[in-house]
Amino acid sequence: MCGIVAYTGNQPAKEILIEGLKRLEYRGYDSSGIFIQNSPPYLARAVGKVAELERRVWNSAPDGVAGIAHTRWATHGKPTEANAHPHTDCGDKLFLVHNGIIENYLVLKKRLLEAGHRFKSETDTEVLVHLIEAGYQGDLPAAVQKALLQVQGTFGIAVMHCDHPGSIVVARRGSPIVLGIGESASLAASDVSALAQHTDQVVYLEDNEIACLEPGNFSITTLDNRSVNRGTTNLEYDVESMDRGSFPHYMLKEIFEQPEAVENALRGRLNHAEAVAKLGGLESVQERLLQARHLIIVSCGTSFYAGLFGRYVFETLTDLTVETELASEFRYRKLNLRQGTVVLAISQSGETADTLAALREAKRKGALVLGLVNVVGSTIARETHAGVYSHAGIEVGVASTKSFLSQITILTLMALLIGRSRDLSYEEGHEIILALERVPEQIREILKQAEHIRQLAVKYCHAEHFLFIGRKYQYPIALEGALKLKEIAYIHSEGYAAGEMKHGPIALIDPKFPTLALALEDGSYERIVSNIQEIHAREGHILAITTEGNTTLGDLADDLIYIPRTHEAVAPLLSVVPLQLFAYYCGVLLGRDVDKPRNLAKSVTVE
Ligand code: F6R
Repeated sequence: MCGIVAYTGNQPAKEILIEGLKRLEYRGYDSSGIFIQNSPPYLARAVGKVAELERRVWNSAPDGVAGIAHTRWATHGKPTEANAHPHTDCGDKLFLVHNGIIENYLVLKKRLLEAGHRFKSETDTEVLVHLIEAGYQGDLPAAVQKALLQVQGTFGIAVMHCDHPGSIVVARRGSPIVLGIGESASLAASDVSALAQHTDQVVYLEDNEIACLEPGNFSITTLDNRSVNRGTTNLEYDVESMDRGSFPHYMLKEIFEQPEAVENALRGRLNHAEAVAKLGGLESVQERLLQARHLIIVSCGTSFYAGLFGRYVFETLTDLTVETELASEFRYRKLNLRQGTVVLAISQSGETADTLAALREAKRKGALVLGLVNVVGSTIARETHAGVYSHAGIEVGVASTKSFLSQITILTLMALLIGRSRDLSYEEGHEIILALERVPEQIREILKQAEHIRQLAVKYCHAEHFLFIGRKYQYPIALEGALKLKEIAYIHSEGYAAGEMKHGPIALIDPKFPTLALALEDGSYERIVSNIQEIHAREGHILAITTEGNTTLGDLADDLIYIPRTHEAVAPLLSVVPLQLFAYYCGVLLGRDVDKPRNLAKSVTVE
């Protein structure tokens, strides 16, 4: 949430900063701003997407060679120009951008107001710049450090002062900051996507660390003044995958990349001879893992639905007892982690604040903590004992699509790995492997139906409400399908376990309230057909996803989408694809900004 980028070097900073903001825009996009060190100092801020700021800056900004910039996801104060970052002190000498939340800002603000500071915004952030001003006596890092010691909450910040040309001070607690060090330039950003075109040498700042950047140089200390000796690491990052190619939106591109996402998730991880999965990232904890009795999966949003899928697949393939928990709830529970408990955190970004807090809580209580993360080097990836990368590639669209597919693929592999060391037979394991290997080709077949699904979106996109139902493995997919439709098309949609219909939601059904039913020919088929009958009897319209060759649903459903037949546990990897396409086309037809839906951000680094 909120994207920060900072540059000091020998090139005009404005292009580098604006380009960096565009790459970070997925983190928040309600307003943005830029400061360029120059005489006089240059500050510009704009409401709306980064393109607004770019229009404003292009002709007016000077060619100064150092600056900081920010794209905002509003927490305190509306998205206005005054609330956009960078914020300045009373003397207009200090400039600061911030990602995170200052929890004690009201107390600090009161004190600063009493001391005569004048505030220009409604944000929590502005207290930081005044605190630094209050403690500044010619040494910028010392003033930043002193200010941060008074702060409760989370921050990733970048600060510049007019009297310190070419110097940028950055610090973090709870919100990511990564440094990029080139030969004659240094950068800092909320994530590597904003640095990768400029350097492949990066340094991840840890919590409670503060760094000073000069062109081509950096030094790090902790907030309590211990010096930190950390070298750069080599970044492997595919800059080209940020390109939208011929697709009109990243979301569509990423939906179409799913066959490769699954191939990458499986690559080198299947052992046919022993019908088992190989997951190098878990080898260091193999002993503990094989002795585990309980698994708790924690995550948020789409990653939570991947976790729900995980519960079914672990229960089917292993003898573990499995719980799935929203990270935002888990972190505040009174936990009684029994011996042999493994906590698995799932996160695309690897930065989600609730998931991070949940895993820290589990770690404190002695659990083995694993991660299933997409972004290499992200905080969750670094803080877990061990884990698996999903290798979905960069996901730019704010709504998760291909990363979900990768997550559920890898959950299946993890379950296979553990299951085969217990009572899962060779035949059962091998059946799963064969089914997984067929998935990329089967997804390609489903993608060929994109036009049919677009036509269905034309028919249904004006519905005000939608119900999604599924059973067992298809229940998490119903929840995910409903989430996609609400976040992308802004259509109110509810996901339900089909068996729950008669316990309440069926009261909503009428000819204007359609239902999307996941009715695959699996062990739950007869039961979900009964649920569809009940909806049909109440004149509800039904759009059903079913298995190729199905001949019985034609009389009940108004519309059908067929997907290839596969193993019940693997079917979610297929059935979610038409739901993503359906949400995408509904969003496009309704004129929504599908890559950057309103009010959302891709990396949720605040609680
Ligand atoms: C929805 C979506 C979100 C994320 C959630 C967790 O399409 O993308 O619900 O799944 O914010 O994010 P990560 O996976 O980065 O922890």
